[in-house]
Amino acid sequence: PARVAVLLSGRGSNLRALVEGAQGYRVVLVASDKPDAGGLAWAAEQGIATFALSPRGIGKQTYEEALDAALCQAGVQVIALAGYMRLLSDAFVDRWRGRMINIHPSLLPKYKGLDTHARAIAAGDAVAGCSVHLVTEELDGGELLGQAEVPIEPGDTPDSLAARVLVAEHQLYPRVLSEFSRAMTDHPALPRLRDLAHALPGTEE
Ligand code: GAR
Repeated sequence: PARVAVLLSGRGSNLRALVEGAQGYRVVLVASDKPDAGGLAWAAEQGIATFALSPRGIGKQTYEEALDAALCQAGVQVIALAGYMRLLSDAFVDRWRGRMINIHPSLLPKYKGLDTHARAIAAGDAVAGCSVHLVTEELDGGELLGQAEVPIEPGDTPDSLAARVLVAEHQLYPRVLSEFSRAMTDHPALPRLRDLAHALPGTEE
């Protein structure tokens, strides 16, 4: 199974779904920029290795270098962002290109960034949902790997919609991470090569 690190900043309900639904991958490290994140405490209770470091006071570069060292030391092959609320630098994204995925609570490419549920309700949308995508330098902009839709009901508030979308996230993320991990361990070079091809001049479609 692929060795996965989950990066989070909060309560970690997606982490829990990923650990409980693990097939074809194993969560070997949970890392957080928030030392008091609920997800970290839960991981520690499960006996999963944790890494907690706040970038405050040490600067982003030092923080990311320490994070990267912890990931490498744990032999991590795939990073799954699950409610990780901090922008990663271009250098970090480049280092993990093709091996880092994220879940976002909207039907991308709609509503990148924050307040996705309030924006979907304000727009009068009939459906909302969640997306899993490859992480690139463009916020919430990498290649889509999977999506799930949920209805927006009359009277929905951002909180009631978020709760409905979260249920869909917990089903979608383990499934997509399993598929991604299997592809990664069967053909380790493929995602990287595909990204390199995009980066070469003259190979754009
Ligand atoms: C989830 O809804 C996730 O999609 C969202 O944060 C929540 C984390 O919940 N992620 C983002 O907004 C990323 N920009 P959790 O800590 O219970 O998994």
